[in-house]
Amino acid sequence: MDDALFHRKPLAEQLAKRIMLKAIGSAAPSGIFLAASYGTGKSTFIAEDLLPQLHALGALVVHADLQGDAGDVGLAISNSIGSALQHQYSRDPSAQGPKGGEWVNSFCSKIGLGKEITYTTALVALSAKSRKMIVLLIDEAQLIIQAADRMAIMAGLKAARDELNSSKHCGLRIVFVGASRADLAELCTTRHEPFFATPLVDLPLLGHEFIQWLCNRPSAPGDLQPDEVFDLFRLIGHRPGLLRRAMEALHEERLPHSEQLIHRLADLLAAQADITNSDSGG
Ligand SMILES: Nc1ncnc2c1ncn2[C@@H]1O[C@H](COP(=O)(O)OP(=O)(O)OP(=O)(O)O)[C@@H](O)[C@H]1O
Ligand SMILES: [Mg+2]
Repeated sequence: MDDALFHRKPLAEQLAKRIMLKAIGSAAPSGIFLAASYGTGKSTFIAEDLLPQLHALGALVVHADLQGDAGDVGLAISNSIGSALQHQYSRDPSAQGPKGGEWVNSFCSKIGLGKEITYTTALVALSAKSRKMIVLLIDEAQLIIQAADRMAIMAGLKAARDELNSSKHCGLRIVFVGASRADLAELCTTRHEPFFATPLVDLPLLGHEFIQWLCNRPSAPGDLQPDEVFDLFRLIGHRPGLLRRAMEALHEERLPHSEQLIHRLADLLAAQADITNSDSGG
């Protein structure tokens, strides 16, 4: 386990179970929207904690980061499904050789909105090949709101979800993760939206345990009181990256008087927050 990260295994276990739940007799579970503000550790949690727990429960995870593929949201989803299919076939000796490889590559290149292979067809193929429940994890999901083909994307995903959750296949859960709660809410609380009534859950923020872990690391400046650091962490909106960078800078300074530490940390954090605001504000 990577000790450069604070892990949240119980939260990941709980969420993974919820995502994989098979609700017998009810409408097909569609998945979940997960929201937490910018820089609070969503992507780290998904990659380092949630994904391993989903694997442990037998899921095949398809991870789509919508920030990739030059902002083309539909393409980012197609490419992530295509990569998962290629990976599945690469483990199959009968699909090896130039012909097999060519067929898979050609199939994957045709996945997409308005293309020959719909999300449904591609995910059905992935389900048949893997015989596993598929969890499509969509990070930066708030970007869907700005996509010109937003309705087609969401309708395509819903069609795939409904087909894959029929008894013919092994199931599909879609997890939308994003920083803008309002944007995610629009996708699941507006009546005409394909994912209307899908639950929207606030991803819990990193808390006091994270601060204790951080203060106990060998590289942490000694004599910092976790309660005082936690107060600063709250002030900066529970953003771990900002705090870690300020702690590292403090460590480098090697201040002689321990009573100055918390004040210096507050200054370094204020400077970090200024840099971040001017970066994002343009
Ligand atoms: N569990 C953790 N343990 C240690 N450091 C963490 C943890 N989670 C996040 N961080 C630190 O915080 C930074 C920001 O985390 P991350 O990118 O996961 O946040 P995010 O919410 O996905 O951000 P964005 O809103 O920009 O997508 C990371 O680069 C990492 O340094
Ligand atoms: Mg992120």
